[in-house]
Amino acid sequence: MTDLSRRDALVGGAVVGTMGAMRLGAAIGGDAARPLLPIPQELRANARGEIAFSARAGTVEFLRGRRTATYGYNGPFLGPVLRLRRGQTVMIDFANHLSDPTTVHWHGLIIPGDVDGGPHRPIAPGEHWRPALSINQPAATLWFHPHFYPTTAAQVTKGLAGLLVIDDEDTDRLKLPSRWGVDDVPLIIQDRRFTRDGQFFDRMNITAVTNGYVGDVPLVNGVRYPEARTTRGWVRLRLLDGSNARSYALKASDGRSLFVIGSDGGLLESPVEVKEIGIHAGERFEVMVDCRSGTPFDLLTLPVEQPIMRLPPFDGPVPLVTIRPVGAVGPGELPASLVKLQPVPAELPAAGQQLVMNMFRDEEGMMPLMKAGLMSMAKSGKTDPAVVGRVTKLIVDQPELTMAVQLSANGVNGRPFALGEPMFAVRRSQELRWRISEASDRMLHPVHVHGCQFRIVSASGQPPEAYRAGWKDIVPISAGGFAEILVSFPYPAGVDMPYMAHCHILEHEDSGMMTQFTVA
Ligand code: C2O
Ligand code: CU
Ligand code: CU
Repeated sequence: MTDLSRRDALVGGAVVGTMGAMRLGAAIGGDAARPLLPIPQELRANARGEIAFSARAGTVEFLRGRRTATYGYNGPFLGPVLRLRRGQTVMIDFANHLSDPTTVHWHGLIIPGDVDGGPHRPIAPGEHWRPALSINQPAATLWFHPHFYPTTAAQVTKGLAGLLVIDDEDTDRLKLPSRWGVDDVPLIIQDRRFTRDGQFFDRMNITAVTNGYVGDVPLVNGVRYPEARTTRGWVRLRLLDGSNARSYALKASDGRSLFVIGSDGGLLESPVEVKEIGIHAGERFEVMVDCRSGTPFDLLTLPVEQPIMRLPPFDGPVPLVTIRPVGAVGPGELPASLVKLQPVPAELPAAGQQLVMNMFRDEEGMMPLMKAGLMSMAKSGKTDPAVVGRVTKLIVDQPELTMAVQLSANGVNGRPFALGEPMFAVRRSQELRWRISEASDRMLHPVHVHGCQFRIVSASGQPPEAYRAGWKDIVPISAGGFAEILVSFPYPAGVDMPYMAHCHILEHEDSGMMTQFTVA
């Protein structure tokens, strides 16, 4: 059993560097036993319009007395939040201080292909990359992460990911809670598994290329079950599912409503009140919660549909973070309406590009899990330790695939990813209707497209959930379903620096479920 992480004591607030201490913490004092939620430091452009940052290796004490080898941006794990404004052009100076090549992709940013940071723009160890990014899109919570083919999953697992927040006139005008880390709180939700010697588990075996990374320790901003001390009043949570593969079904422990105000690419027309919100790998939502009473609550995740993602501790509600409102009432408000979105036209363009997600080895991956009893356990709804043991052994002990097998395990439109061979071309600034579906595997695929923000016009023939009806760059498909999106690409992407379209389960992406296209 390499699965030690649940037996070992986990330590909390070990993350240092850019993940600074919560600002309110010192003034309020309190429970030393619980780690405070680390708040990523804001990085804004200097007077010359530049932002410099770097990737480097480090260590973090996640498990008591053990150092886990990590990667981070400007610190040992995760990174700062890049704070940008619509209309601004920022000169990035990124330095790769790792011993591996990497790339930096601005997930959700609408920018030309040559500055998109995909797998065609590797940055060698010791090198700098200096793209100019012109920000011309609505306020949103985006993120950045490596996109190096085929080791994106491994680099993100080690800790490379950060937020990128855009502000604009709408967020100036609206009285949303906007004091960073005080009533405007970023929550980067991830899962990890640890090996016997305290390192991050990371193995591209058949279980991983079919199911993605299955962790057993939830982390929020790099810490297990932290506590966020916020002000009273309305609190805004910026949620990122920064996991390689895991989806979450989020709910407040006391059942209070979550008011969704934004999705991947910007604010919604008006708040959408829900009791529970689903979030998939790579997705973001901005959610407001009423903390006027000062009563604390936990943000929980409930069991999700995929059987392998219901292994303990995720076989029941798992508290991810405590929100503890203390102190004065903040000035933030929940507006009745937010922004005007262009209505989706009744008359849609003719169906155009189709993207079919393929799994060429799903039976090979799923059969052993089925034999181990995973599907029947999921159906019964009762956790059986013997099944859990057998399935965990498959996750952990199945041998690493050869590179050739890994790279051809999955695909799009019948073909595994082939770097440098764009699959199709689209016309610039044209409204397009794409259909995204899956082959016979019926698995979940959160599909992401670069160079755009799109609208979901159909989720298997139905309108999307109201909280997915605004700007999106990821659309989930599952259970044999399909999605149609309305999309247009305002910037060019040439053959040398094309855009990517791929499943955001990073183990699927690194094993062929990715394609590339040009825009002219
Ligand atoms: Cu978040 Cu192509 O990536
Ligand atoms: Cu992206
Ligand atoms: Cu997938």
